[in-house]
Amino acid sequence: MPAFADPSQQLDGFQWPLQPPEAPPSAGRRLRLAVMASGEGSNFEALTQACRADRPAADVVLLVVNNPGCAARERASRLGVPCRLIDHRLQPSRDALDAALVEAFQEAQVDLVVMAGWMRIVTRRLVEAFPERLVNIHPSLLPSFRGMDAVGQALAAGVRLAGCTAHLVNEQVDAGRILVQAAVPVLEGDDHASLSARIQRQEHRILPLAVQLAAERLGLPAQG
Ligand code: GRF
Repeated sequence: MPAFADPSQQLDGFQWPLQPPEAPPSAGRRLRLAVMASGEGSNFEALTQACRADRPAADVVLLVVNNPGCAARERASRLGVPCRLIDHRLQPSRDALDAALVEAFQEAQVDLVVMAGWMRIVTRRLVEAFPERLVNIHPSLLPSFRGMDAVGQALAAGVRLAGCTAHLVNEQVDAGRILVQAAVPVLEGDDHASLSARIQRQEHRILPLAVQLAAERLGLPAQG
């Protein structure tokens, strides 16, 4: 018996919280965001568009990619967002890679850094440079299915409810404070691609909200 009789009609995604908390009145300064991406970059684009609609009142001022041929880079060019390539293959260590990232983010004077499909494990160097200021999006309802291929893990486990989590980053993989989650049903006949697509639609909704919540925790205005 499926969890929902006709889930596509009833439930495209549950999201918590439904409304962001009240923010202090904006002092007119917009939040400066950097995004890190390794591949497609659909979350980067969704966040950039949300910021351009003032939800949150922020600007994506920098995209950093680690793969020269990634689609995220093309999206940045189309959207007019400055993009820097920091290729991990040219760095002697994880620490050196993260030191280069920190330098780029400090130079761009960003308030928050968003890991949107960054397929490298980050080190203490990055986490400590941006305490409480590093947000990640992960395609599972954490703390279930941490690490690689969370969608495959969910399908293999046979769960009826999957989803995504936007959270603050600490030194453990996919383990920092949860900011926002969205749940989606796993439908009869779902495969990796169909479930991933359903989850991604929710990622695109919750990531901008998570950025707003992360900013508000720091007392930074992020409402338009
Ligand atoms: C997303 O599913 C995200 O949860 C995971 O990597 C994927 C990135 O997708 N960390 P995109 O590059 O934003 O399209």
